[in-house]
Amino acid sequence: MNRDVLSITDQRTGKSYEIPIRNGTIRSMDLRQIKVDADDFGLMGYDPAFTNTASCQSKVTYIDGDKGILRYRGYPIEELAEKCTFLEVAYLLLKGELPNETELNSFVDQVKHHTMLHETTKQFLEGFRYDAHPMAMVISTVAALSSVYKKASNIFDVEERELNIIRLIGKMPTIAAYAYRHGLGFPYVYPDNDLSYPENFMNMLWKMVEPKYAANPTIARALDILFILHADHEQNCSANVMRSVGSSQADPFLSLAAATAALSGPLHGGANEEVLTMLDEIGSKDNIPAYIEKVKSGQLKLMGFGHRVYKNYDPRARIIKWTAEQVFKVTGKNPKLEIALELEKIALEDEYFVKRKLYPNVDFYSGIMYQAMGFPPAMFTVLFAIPRTVGWLAQWQEMICDPEQKIARPRQVYTGYEERHIGQKMGVTV
Ligand code: SDX
Repeated sequence: MNRDVLSITDQRTGKSYEIPIRNGTIRSMDLRQIKVDADDFGLMGYDPAFTNTASCQSKVTYIDGDKGILRYRGYPIEELAEKCTFLEVAYLLLKGELPNETELNSFVDQVKHHTMLHETTKQFLEGFRYDAHPMAMVISTVAALSSVYKKASNIFDVEERELNIIRLIGKMPTIAAYAYRHGLGFPYVYPDNDLSYPENFMNMLWKMVEPKYAANPTIARALDILFILHADHEQNCSANVMRSVGSSQADPFLSLAAATAALSGPLHGGANEEVLTMLDEIGSKDNIPAYIEKVKSGQLKLMGFGHRVYKNYDPRARIIKWTAEQVFKVTGKNPKLEIALELEKIALEDEYFVKRKLYPNVDFYSGIMYQAMGFPPAMFTVLFAIPRTVGWLAQWQEMICDPEQKIARPRQVYTGYEERHIGQKMGVTV
């Protein structure tokens, strides 16, 4: 009879072991019993970059990389992007169920009540040079909020924890917009709670001297869809950081600042900015074959392509491509789109990319759309961090409430010197 058990025979000792298999995994701690003698520490798994290691059990997001499936709390991303607003999806990710009308109205009111920044925090932002990268400004300012909300370290106090989750969801667009305006030398625009979440973000970005900002509804809906698509993605690099830093019981502002820093890397959320740099470097469709050859020779990576989990088309990229077409009807087509489409076409037919299952990911088309909306490339990863704040907080909250979790502290395989001693140093005695 087939049993959910892994039978292992250690050829070093001839001993056999039976290790339970649950959810398609074995517990690494069950390997520690496999020893050559009583002094042996026991076996560990060795998995650089955690390519085959589950760090947690989670109910938040499900991805099937081979089938190109992405679901938040069981709902397909395609349905959520089509039928929901971002704050509805935020509620779903945090609470596990879609809100009814009363729950949604209450949640939206709470978020709106927390869009303002303390005036001292605005002054903190003033300290940055005009040309500071907005991601550096956002990361620093989020960390600075830890000094404003001193009770945030009470992470096991449910009310305090939920209040700080709302504060971060409410304030991230404000911080992002202030970082953008600081770079332009424009005055900050206060939140306008008559507006929806995306419309208020646009208001704080783009309101000039008009008495009331009027958001273009197509752009507002496009931003809302982009926020939904970027909201969570299970145990990606930055979510892992949020969980790891949070596992030391750091407060949510400091943990989220660390996660935002991880997102800024060009291999992660920073890729959307790098895609625009790459398209600028390519310059025209004629130059694509030569660029592709450089990628295939290993000199460069095709930014916005490839994924650790998706070995099929990233379902978000497909929706972003559709959303971009709606935006271009308002803004006019971004000329870089033609280069991107041709690059995708050539790459998807090239054996190098086909063999490695490299497809466009969430970052390939998003930057082209953001640029058409009027954002500079330096803002693209900030636009990723705003919605991912919800996913990071959902993962953080789940980690705190998981009785199996404790402070994250991986092991290592030591390959350094054996014990050695300081000899008689030339002319130096201590
Ligand atoms: C995000 O994890 C998430 O969920 C992240 C994210 C989220 O929502 O949180 O989806 C957001 O980060 C999307 C990814 C954005 N990054 C980029 O677009 C940067 C370009 N992509 C690559 O750097 C890469 O594809 C990664 C980092 C995304 C994934 O890298 P892996 O899983 O470590 O894969 P790998 O580096 O082991 O690559 C396997 C092979 C290698 O070739 P060989 O050594 O076997 O010859 O594929 C090659 C790589 O060189 N390869 C690429 C490539 N990506 C991988 N070759 C050219 N261009 C690329 N983009």
